[in-house]
Amino acid sequence: MVFNSSIRFVDARLMIDDLPVDAIARELETPVYVYSLKRVRKNYRRVKGAFEPIGARIHYSAKANSNGAILRALIEEGAGIDAVSGGEIARALQAGAAAQDIVFAGVGKTVAEIASAVELGIGWFNVENELELQYINDAAASVGAEKVQVALRFNPEVSANTHPHLATGHGSAKFGLSAGAIGDALEQPERYPCLSICGIHVHIGSQLGDSAATVQAIARTKQLIEPYPEIHTINLGGGLPVAYRHDQTIPTLENLVSEVAPHLHGYQVLLEPGRAIVADAGILVATVLYVKEQAGKIFYVVDASMAELIRPALYGAQHEIIPLVQSDDERVVAQVVGPVCESADVLAQDREMTRLKVGDQVAIMTAGAYGMAMASNYNSRMRPAEVVVAADGDSWSVSRRRESIQDLMRFEN
Ligand code: LLP
Repeated sequence: MVFNSSIRFVDARLMIDDLPVDAIARELETPVYVYSLKRVRKNYRRVKGAFEPIGARIHYSAKANSNGAILRALIEEGAGIDAVSGGEIARALQAGAAAQDIVFAGVGKTVAEIASAVELGIGWFNVENELELQYINDAAASVGAEKVQVALRFNPEVSANTHPHLATGHGSAKFGLSAGAIGDALEQPERYPCLSICGIHVHIGSQLGDSAATVQAIARTKQLIEPYPEIHTINLGGGLPVAYRHDQTIPTLENLVSEVAPHLHGYQVLLEPGRAIVADAGILVATVLYVKEQAGKIFYVVDASMAELIRPALYGAQHEIIPLVQSDDERVVAQVVGPVCESADVLAQDREMTRLKVGDQVAIMTAGAYGMAMASNYNSRMRPAEVVVAADGDSWSVSRRRESIQDLMRFEN
């Protein structure tokens, strides 16, 4: 299902909460991202509620969408933040997060990022390297910080059932530490007097299609930490899936929770969902620039591209593409492509959809996660505006304006 309580058709017009999307799009240039803060909040509460039986504390994974209005809404809801760079930490703090409520993750944190995060009093470091432990310890010693909380990220050698680019828990992935390396670190805590190594982190991938691999990874994690009672926290990472196609079904959160709960008794549980909170709260609105029929195919050239939404090109992701105003027009099989000079700049391939004409506007659905966050200036395209519909459902504002030609050149000497 790609429609939800906030983004759905009412009387043939695509609505985002109480507002028709075409009315918003008319006042702005396309492409433009539009997000429902109501839906973001609802998703947060849904995930929080589902994980209530194991008391999980949620750190929203800012990499999915670090728009300030979204971060502020989630922080107001009580979420902590999962940050993977100094930049994301800065955004989280700016949006009102307490340093203590931020987890700092990432396979390649720089010494400068570590020093700054220690100084700020970041709540948790998810560590992926022995040398990183040393760097955090040194940074803590130099500012007199005591017992910086560390979770070791475990690579459980479990292959997730997802796109290969989104799998992180197989042994040959760059992520995490082997069981042996974790054992070594836990056997010699005296090497890190300023650290409290009291957590374990396990994240085997994103858009996890079934729970079997997750359960296996958690079982291995538990086995690994059982001899070490000082490990009181298990961070399960993110990876909760969303449906991108109307015919796709995904496992329920309640099922997942009931399967993992038996392994988690007695531990504090942290969770880092990104996609499940924001994906279905956002759309990318585009306008048809040209229609071309060639080699027996129909091409709709729209003004959005892989620069604004790279997921189809990078992962073969299938985002539904829907006209803002429903009609009974004929259905056709078409290619929806962007203006970028790359054969991979295809937003939908051989897709059955309503026949479109020049000037029609479409919503590229389920684009709230890893859309704008991964947008680039490729082909010197200006990154689009981001509009948020407030939690009241009937007012909207431009949260981030569309970039200008000046913006494109402002860092050049
Ligand atoms: N925690 C860790 C350690 C992660 O690596 C990730 C995602 C998350 C949490 C959040 O995962 P989520 O709940 O959003 O699945 N660009 C790709 C997704 C890359 C995910 C990277 N790590 C996409 O568009 O599908």
